[in-house]
Amino acid sequence: MKKGFIFDLDGVLCFTDIYHFKAWKVIADRLGLPFDEKVNDRLRGVSRMESLRIILSLGDKTYTDEEQLAMATEKNEIYRTLLNEMKPSDVSNEVRETLEELRNRGYKLSIGSSSKNTPTILEKTDLAKYFDAVSDGNNITHSKPDPEVFLKGAQFLGLEPSECYIVEDAEAGIDAGVAGGFTTIGIGPAAMYSKTHHPISTFKDLLNYAK
Ligand code: BG6
Ligand code: MG
Repeated sequence: MKKGFIFDLDGVLCFTDIYHFKAWKVIADRLGLPFDEKVNDRLRGVSRMESLRIILSLGDKTYTDEEQLAMATEKNEIYRTLLNEMKPSDVSNEVRETLEELRNRGYKLSIGSSSKNTPTILEKTDLAKYFDAVSDGNNITHSKPDPEVFLKGAQFLGLEPSECYIVEDAEAGIDAGVAGGFTTIGIGPAAMYSKTHHPISTFKDLLNYAK
């Protein structure tokens, strides 16, 4: 019997995935790399430095660790400028009402995001109040597809992985959920992924799994 839901943030609760794309595009364009939305899909759920490695692999030049760190730092500065514009209305009523209803039905809710910017996003969008726990890029050493962020989320909720659903838009996130022994629910690109246990087409469909 399930007792909790662990939510990815970017691309599930809010659409910061578009901001990630815009910020990486500045760096990729300057380097002359063919970075498009298809490549961007491969960055979903993976850490900042791993995202950069994927983008740089589009070309054949190598960069020192210092150069790579400078690029990732610049991307994050651009991304944070975009985040600054975020406001509560950037989260849909459908998401808010569904989170509220899951709480009313007695489920424990946690965030399970690779992003180190999670606290800023939760604050800007006024989403923090729905969650009993937050597991994010600041409390992990291995990013998705490693299950660490979800295992910590379950632990923070006091639940076993078998008692939690993972809600994800990324293949890397579904892989992480499966590896951790969770039941996965996929939305957006993850709804089309073969390893997803339960695909959904819209956020409120989650209520079908929360009797
Ligand atoms: C994930 C995003 O939520 O966070 C990835 O899907 C991103 O695209 C990762 O790379 C890390 O984010 P941040 O905010 O720590 O750079
Ligand atoms: Mg995501």
